[in-house]
Amino acid sequence: THPAPTELLDLARTIALTAGALAHRRRVEGVEIAASKSSPEDIVTAADREVELLIQGLLADARPNDGFYGEESDATGGTSGLTWVVDPIDGTVNYLYAVPFYAVSIAVVQGEPDPASWNALAGAVVNPALGEVFTASAGSGAWLGDARLHVNHDVPLSLALAGTGFGYDASRRVWQAKVVGGLIGQVRDIRRIGSAALDLCSVACGRLDLYFERGLNPWDHAAGALIAREAGAKVGALQADAEGHDLLIAAAPDLYDQFEPVLAGLFERFPFGAKAQ
Ligand code: IPD
Repeated sequence: THPAPTELLDLARTIALTAGALAHRRRVEGVEIAASKSSPEDIVTAADREVELLIQGLLADARPNDGFYGEESDATGGTSGLTWVVDPIDGTVNYLYAVPFYAVSIAVVQGEPDPASWNALAGAVVNPALGEVFTASAGSGAWLGDARLHVNHDVPLSLALAGTGFGYDASRRVWQAKVVGGLIGQVRDIRRIGSAALDLCSVACGRLDLYFERGLNPWDHAAGALIAREAGAKVGALQADAEGHDLLIAAAPDLYDQFEPVLAGLFERFPFGAKAQ
């Protein structure tokens, strides 16, 4: 048997706070780019790696039989049926520029480390630059510090503040911008915060009414999606498209249901994979 989700959350929170403090310290000392990944814009800093190693080490001490699935390293399986899904610094480009919207994201899930089927038990998202700690455990609600979170309700799409993000792949981001261009006239406004984990927490605490993005990686949303759900959001990871890029939508259920067909219409108007101009 596994510890209760609230117990797992205590560990996620403690480790995310320690990791957030290290990320913040390294930010103050000055950040260097260690390498680029899928494109020159898709960077990894020395701090991303150092923070992930710290988290991995602390988890190995506390929960040696659990699996680990992090942004900067290969996945390791465990024997317990639990896996920790970790983004050491979500919002790496904000981190590089000292924009205070980056976060350590730690979730623990049960089952295969695949967002289509896993059962998220607990998640913590720490923004060290603002000192904000978002947490949720399955069935116990979502929290910012010790304040309980609730999504905004009864917001019509035309008055919704929507968040989204752009991937690093050049043709995908051009397509994402076209979709945003089609949406802007139909909502109050659009934000691009630069961290999917914080976008989802923003839906949870009412700083955004809805969030959508296509092409996220599991570690970007594992903790944030649970936090949004526990705050009352409907979170949908729709079918992977032909290229295997997931779509994630999060909003209060009534707004989600208004938005989904609108987004489907935009996807029809601007087919993904059509040659980017
Ligand atoms: C990125 C951020 C960004 C989102 C990208 C992600 P990273 O994660 O969450 O907001 O738009 O899709 O890849 O690279 O900063 O960990």
